[in-house]
Amino acid sequence: MRDFDLKRKVLSYDRAVPRYTSYPAAPLFQSDFSPSTVLGWADSLADGSKLSLYVHVPFCPKLCHYCGCFTHITSRYAPVEDYVHILRREIALMGKRLQGKNHVVTHLHFGGGSPTMLVPQDFRLLMETFREFFVFDSNAEIAVEVDPRHMNQELAQTYGEQGINRISLGVQDFDDKVMQTVNRVQPFDVVYEAVRHLRQAGIQDFNLDFIYGLPYQSVRSLTRSMDYALLLKPSRFAMYGYAHVPWKKKNMRLIPDDSLPNADERFDLFQAGASVLEESGYRSIGIDHFVKDEDDMAVAQDQGSLGRNFQGYTNISPDALIGFGVSAISQFPQGYAQNTTASHAYQDAVLHSGMPPIAKGYEFQGQDIARKSIIDRLMCDLKVNIYEIWDIHGHDRNDLQASIDQLTPYIDDGLAQFDIRNGLVSIPHDARQIVRLVAACFDEYLPPVETLQRHSMAV
Ligand SMILES: C[S@@+](CC[C@H](N)C(=O)[O-])C[C@H]1O[C@@H](n2cnc3c(N)ncnc32)[C@H](O)[C@@H]1O
Ligand code: SF4
Repeated sequence: MRDFDLKRKVLSYDRAVPRYTSYPAAPLFQSDFSPSTVLGWADSLADGSKLSLYVHVPFCPKLCHYCGCFTHITSRYAPVEDYVHILRREIALMGKRLQGKNHVVTHLHFGGGSPTMLVPQDFRLLMETFREFFVFDSNAEIAVEVDPRHMNQELAQTYGEQGINRISLGVQDFDDKVMQTVNRVQPFDVVYEAVRHLRQAGIQDFNLDFIYGLPYQSVRSLTRSMDYALLLKPSRFAMYGYAHVPWKKKNMRLIPDDSLPNADERFDLFQAGASVLEESGYRSIGIDHFVKDEDDMAVAQDQGSLGRNFQGYTNISPDALIGFGVSAISQFPQGYAQNTTASHAYQDAVLHSGMPPIAKGYEFQGQDIARKSIIDRLMCDLKVNIYEIWDIHGHDRNDLQASIDQLTPYIDDGLAQFDIRNGLVSIPHDARQIVRLVAACFDEYLPPVETLQRHSMAV
């Protein structure tokens, strides 16, 4: 398809849909959900399960106006120190519950907010607590989301000593005007120095986060920023579409509406950024990742084992994901559970009730697991055999008809294909920006179009 035709067709669909880091999407989680359900799920994990752990650090010293993450702004360290104390209790609580079952941690991820707010001593304390209550696989991936502005030699060395082997650096862009508008001044040398410290500490695997669709971004400014980023030779790039949800995140109202690229420009920004990366030897993964061929994520994609979780794409397929800290989400074979976002409730639950600080959850029912598999495969592979998945779960193929019917406009526009004989749904590589829309055809809970503003735009 010619670029112009592709763009016209993709942009004709302006439906807002979830990012499908979970299915059902988080707004479906229910508040009448008991924390003891999660303990039951944890108890029922098979002996020797593979665990992925996530810890949320909800603090930043300065607010980026585009930020969609759950974080508090603080220039004081006391709240962070107090939080570490509660986190350690929460880790111990779940760790004790899971002990004696030969479970192995294959992945630990520090996300935020800014985990780099933790001073070396507190970071060490958290790692010691994890190691006290969990057994780590010798090849476990231990990753930290790093704000380059916080990195220094001492912190990098601490990460190296503690076995951190993957870093995700928040770059977003290098353009002065773009970054000043979003309240994040972070010139190239700041990122360069952060990478240098981390490499010197023995950490070689880097991901650089970029965002397209930021204020005043142009194809020229973005591709120039990416050229700079390539000098750092990261093993992966993430190129997220800016999710502008000012009705939900007040800080986004500080971004002038007329500074934001429109849908047409966003499309061009993504295509241009993707071309720079693909021409530089990075392979496109799913909707927003780019990795070197030898990267574990590329290998997982070739093997059909690429997964999707709350942090996005992953090459690690655990039996359960356990989240610690405010707002963190856990995923068990039976469903999802989300920790409270309220600091006091979090503290009370962990320190006084001895129960997981869960505020919401969702137990899979009906066709959820089959629909989740279809959506996961589409988001990861851009193709899926819907009959195969449906049959494995013993569902009636007639129940798929409503979803198949919803594919029609995309098929008519050449943005998706469906082979009725073998059940294969696929999306051409150059139309991958609409994969969330195709995935949405299999979402049983998507509310009517007029109530969809809880999500960001699909493209
Ligand atoms: C928790 S932050 C990374 C660590 C650190 N706080 C930082 O910003 O450097 C995770 C990533 O989410 C992405 N992000 C944040 N808000 C976003 C939004 N509204 N739309 C798209 N991506 C966003 C950014 O790329 C950011 O690097
Ligand atoms: S993007 Fe990162 S540093 Fe900026 S406010 Fe959000 S979490 Fe904090």
